[in-house]
Amino acid sequence: MENSKSNFDRRKFLKSSALVGTFLGLPGAAAFGQSDADKAIDNLTAKRPSYGKSVIGLKTSPIEQVKVAFIGVGNRGSGHVKQMAALYPKAIITAICDIREAYAQKSVDLANEMGQNPKMYSGKEEAWKEMLQRDDIDLVIIATPWVDHVPMCVYAMQQGKHVAVEVPAAYTVEDCWKLVDTAEETQRNCMMLENVCYGDEELTLLQMVNKGYFGTLTHGEAAYIHDLRESMFSKTGYYNQWRIRHHIKYDGNLYPTHGLGPVAQYMGINRGDRFGHLVSMSSLEANLSEYGKTVEPDNEFYKYTDFKHGDMNTTLIKTAKGRTIMVQHDVASPRVYSRINALSGTNAFHTGYPSRLSVNGKHEWLTEEERAEVFQKYKHPIWNKLKDEIAKNGGHGGMDFVMLYRLIDCYNKGIMLDQDVYDAADWSVVTPLSGISIQTGNAPVKFPDFTRGKWQEERALGIMANV
Ligand SMILES: NC(=O)c1ccc[n+]([C@@H]2O[C@H](COP(=O)([O-])OP(=O)(O)OC[C@H]3O[C@@H](n4cnc5c(N)ncnc54)[C@H](O)[C@@H]3O)[C@@H](O)[C@H]2O)c1
Repeated sequence: MENSKSNFDRRKFLKSSALVGTFLGLPGAAAFGQSDADKAIDNLTAKRPSYGKSVIGLKTSPIEQVKVAFIGVGNRGSGHVKQMAALYPKAIITAICDIREAYAQKSVDLANEMGQNPKMYSGKEEAWKEMLQRDDIDLVIIATPWVDHVPMCVYAMQQGKHVAVEVPAAYTVEDCWKLVDTAEETQRNCMMLENVCYGDEELTLLQMVNKGYFGTLTHGEAAYIHDLRESMFSKTGYYNQWRIRHHIKYDGNLYPTHGLGPVAQYMGINRGDRFGHLVSMSSLEANLSEYGKTVEPDNEFYKYTDFKHGDMNTTLIKTAKGRTIMVQHDVASPRVYSRINALSGTNAFHTGYPSRLSVNGKHEWLTEEERAEVFQKYKHPIWNKLKDEIAKNGGHGGMDFVMLYRLIDCYNKGIMLDQDVYDAADWSVVTPLSGISIQTGNAPVKFPDFTRGKWQEERALGIMANV
């Protein structure tokens, strides 16, 4: 009794903390009081006014050759430039912006080598705004640090451009709403570039789910477990060491979408089911503090120990239909890479890393040959169709190329995209909601309904309907 009382008091106390306000993305978070925090959390699920009609199923007129611009061509964006250039003549690169001139120049040079002639923008914080004034841009690809995603997406849509933004799209509740509201107001696409949804294994599982192989789905498990200590501490790994700075400010799942996106698609989230609420817990922080002792003394994070983010975050989501999803995040521990990719149904169970399948309650995994045979049978046609181009262009085993091909193909054909702004908001909002749960003593936190009730409509994913 003693314990539960003190937990309750702690919850009440923490609920009033300014950090809750920070996760919500509200101005003046530092002066946040108890009742403000309570009201703000309750408001998460309150209905909001919309500023335009829903963009579910949004189609554009076919664009024969998609004019593409880039903001941010570091580790990730430079790879997108290369793969986009390979999609010519379906797409053409018209402009490239990076605040660092050498990076912008490198990607422009690469595009030149591949026969294209984009205009370069660089050298100042807001060069991207100047670029977005151009008329010859249909689609902007944003691969900047997380803090820039939402302002760049919003401004681009307001200039009439469609947007494809790297993961996660946003990391406060208010920013997730900003993306949804602006997409509806401008009737532009704001797709998050969740490449894992285009993986061979993930698309195969999606086919198996849709053809009833798993029976009724009950539970999924997803993760981003990737030892990033070296690149996060490195002075040259990320622009201005942006990624490690999030570990100083926030606890919760900072990077939920790689594992969660595919599981959400298996379960038809926003297409008949929705995320209902979550609870979240983080482990002790130890790895970054210990690693910090090993870096050079001139590193800003040498011997730094005040990281807010626990090493392993585990979040549990309950869906409206009663399914559960475990999502984990750990980029600090010396562990082998995993997104888990587990899926449990009434007929079959799959888990990844390495891929294993069991069927009809047998207590053993299928042999590797048997599993491969099932996977071959259900392989998604896009992976067969693009086999040679995937081999040539690659990108995380091919998923990056398939994603960009498919994105451009949808614009060429004038059909709806596979992921919409509601998916971007729902998968990304796990970051602030898990943070709020931790701040409130692991309390349940409800998801906002970004679709404003339309999640109940059963509808096919584009990638399953029109390939
Ligand atoms: N989907 C994936 O598999 C995957 C993989 C890696 C990274 N990412 C995502 O891609 C994004 C970028 O990550 P990264 O690893 O490439 O980081 P990075 O630091 O290497 O690249 C970011 C780039 O943005 C540029 N930039 C910063 N501020 C800018 C501004 N105001 N105007 C123009 N350019 C600006 C930087 O100079 C840098 O080149 C992040 O959202 C990350 O989560 C996704």
